[in-house]
Amino acid sequence: KSQTLFSHEKRTNMAYIIVAAGKGQRAGTVVPKQYCLIAGKMLLTHTVKALRQANPDALFVVVINEDDHDLATKALAGAKNIITVTGGATRQESVYAGLTALKAEAPEFVFVHDAARPFVSSVLIVNIESDLQKGADAVIPALAITDTLKRATNGMITDTIDRAGLYAVQTPQAFNYSKLLSAHETAPHNDFTDDAAVFEYAGGTIHICAGDEGNFKVTHPADFAKAEAQMMLACSDI
Ligand code: CTP
Ligand code: MG
Repeated sequence: KSQTLFSHEKRTNMAYIIVAAGKGQRAGTVVPKQYCLIAGKMLLTHTVKALRQANPDALFVVVINEDDHDLATKALAGAKNIITVTGGATRQESVYAGLTALKAEAPEFVFVHDAARPFVSSVLIVNIESDLQKGADAVIPALAITDTLKRATNGMITDTIDRAGLYAVQTPQAFNYSKLLSAHETAPHNDFTDDAAVFEYAGGTIHICAGDEGNFKVTHPADFAKAEAQMMLACSDI
């Protein structure tokens, strides 16, 4: 059972946007990666299930591509308290579509999560909530970079980048809903690859919490075998 610092009422007043409108070009699968099977279930189905475990009562908004209507219906069959909306050509547009769909609801906090990260854990959600509870407007999971970083042009190294203070960031990213909405409304269309970048652009302060190595994003073909193995391991734990 997930532990939480927030009251049931407060947790119900949160929403989750799951962005699933991408084409998954780098994965190169026949159907977009979020509809590929991992351990017998669609990737998107696993992601929704994992978040549902973390917060049983919140409203979920799943942002899908209009071409994938039938696949999405299959992936979300039986899921409760979910609405689907159509996304855009970039992730930024897709998140904005999700935020717009929540205007009437106007939750206090919104969590934005990639459909392609099925290993999001309840522990991570609780860690994020703990920073929200302390008053943060924005919290994102981050992992300190351990590899040495180089810049290269035309296959040739031009310099080495000091990795001190550099992080690889993940989703879910949590925000004060109305502040993220207004950040999206003012940000230019730059194809920001995460919402923290949009929030930052609007001058917001973002906190980091400990990310989770297991919470990787299925991106390249080799990630499917990795996800399959990790999912089988997770299932055998239960
Ligand atoms: N996404 C989205 N709408 C877009 C682009 C991306 O909802 N127009 C979603 C993807 O479905 C994914 C998440 O954003 O769950 C993270 O994006 P990424 O891993 O880059 O997925 P894709 O854009 O689909 O993959 P690629 O960049 O390889 O084409
Ligand atoms: Mg992409």
